[in-house]
Amino acid sequence: MQETLPRRATTTSAVRLDGVRKHFRRADRTLAAAVDGVSLEVAPAEILVLLGPSGCGKTTLLRSIAGLERPDAGLVEIGGRTVFDAARGLDVPPERRGLSMMFQSYALWPHLSVFDNVAYPLLSRRGGRPPKSEVAAQVGQALELVGIPELARQHPGELSGGQQQRVALARALVAGDGLILFDEPLSNVDAKVRERLRVELLAMQRRLGFAAVYVTHDQTEAMELATRIAVMRDGRVEQLGPPREIYDRPATRYVANFVGIANEIPGEVASMRDGRAVLRTPHGPLTGDAGPLTGAIGPLTGAIGPLTGAIGPLTGVAGPGLEEGAAAVAVWRPEHGRMSADQPDEPNRWRARRRVSMFAGPHVEHHLDAGGLACRLWSGSGGAGEEQEVWLSVPPGRLLILPA
Ligand SMILES: Nc1ncnc2c1ncn2[C@@H]1O[C@H](COP(=O)(O)OP(=O)(O)OP(=O)(O)O)[C@@H](O)[C@H]1O
Ligand SMILES: [Mg+2]
Repeated sequence: MQETLPRRATTTSAVRLDGVRKHFRRADRTLAAAVDGVSLEVAPAEILVLLGPSGCGKTTLLRSIAGLERPDAGLVEIGGRTVFDAARGLDVPPERRGLSMMFQSYALWPHLSVFDNVAYPLLSRRGGRPPKSEVAAQVGQALELVGIPELARQHPGELSGGQQQRVALARALVAGDGLILFDEPLSNVDAKVRERLRVELLAMQRRLGFAAVYVTHDQTEAMELATRIAVMRDGRVEQLGPPREIYDRPATRYVANFVGIANEIPGEVASMRDGRAVLRTPHGPLTGDAGPLTGAIGPLTGAIGPLTGAIGPLTGVAGPGLEEGAAAVAVWRPEHGRMSADQPDEPNRWRARRRVSMFAGPHVEHHLDAGGLACRLWSGSGGAGEEQEVWLSVPPGRLLILPA
């Protein structure tokens, strides 16, 4: 997939990583690559979300930016200044990197007032503390910005979870220099509060214009907050792009399945043309659009599943790395499938059995069985009653063909 970061020479990136690697030696003496060669840039006022399953290296990468972890290789720049360069042995300590970090726990001092918590980074700054009046002014301004000036004299134990989060954010704003690193800051508040805090965090970020690197393993949170998402897998960035691109045009099956729900139909690439691919499956050929074609998969030979005459040719969008004759998978989202009693006038259609339908609030979720393949489909209404035979169709522009 295309990288869509605007590359203007005049704009200094908030963060730039080049070839960052970090290995850990496990107790059994084997080396584990927690971060395995990551290069990316974060634009000013951008929220870059690092998304991926547990253990994929999100925290290690974030800590490498912060200076809390020392990478084995690579370069880290913050606001155009090199703060880490393995080749030159350069390693600027965390407190002099011009950033702040907000953790899952908020890490507020329980014995200090809100005011003193927010003032803490200023008072513990190297090279002398600023005059009292300046501290008061900066703390007052930060509390004003996060909307809790009246709570300055409270202690963290006397605040709600949401208010504590604002205190932590105010402290991060006071300490930071336009870059804030977040490591799952909302993961220990309940779902309703989390939703509200996300909105407030985003509104605050828009107003204040800081850049952020935000770690989460929650795909909804990632899509809602991110300017761009970096989907990580085993210490590497598998795909980097705006949320809509990641959702609508996942470059790999891994991304398609990690972000959103993906229905899959396996097969072999029969042909490719003009960004579209035709997938030969036991259900008939499927066609789709092709993204940029890179890499190569050796052609597969051998038997092709029987083509059932009743099913018309099926068509879709070809993802990167496809080759004619190679094993591939057609992927589609539940909201893009259509179900009808009569045979639709669509290129991609096949017979299926609707097994159950469940009312899910905004949509109805249908579970279908298409010749042994289970798939899910969402529609606005309908689907009550007994099992029935239906036609299932997916528009070619909504069917992605990706390497298996
Ligand atoms: N100090 C350490 N010593 C040894 N191995 C480590 C250490 N820190 C992390 N690892 C390993 O590095 C890999 C990446 O860990 P990391 O904490 O970065 O993952 P993560 O993506 O943040 O996961 P989670 O979502 O669970 O927080 C894991 O395999 C982990 O076991
Ligand atoms: Mg982590």
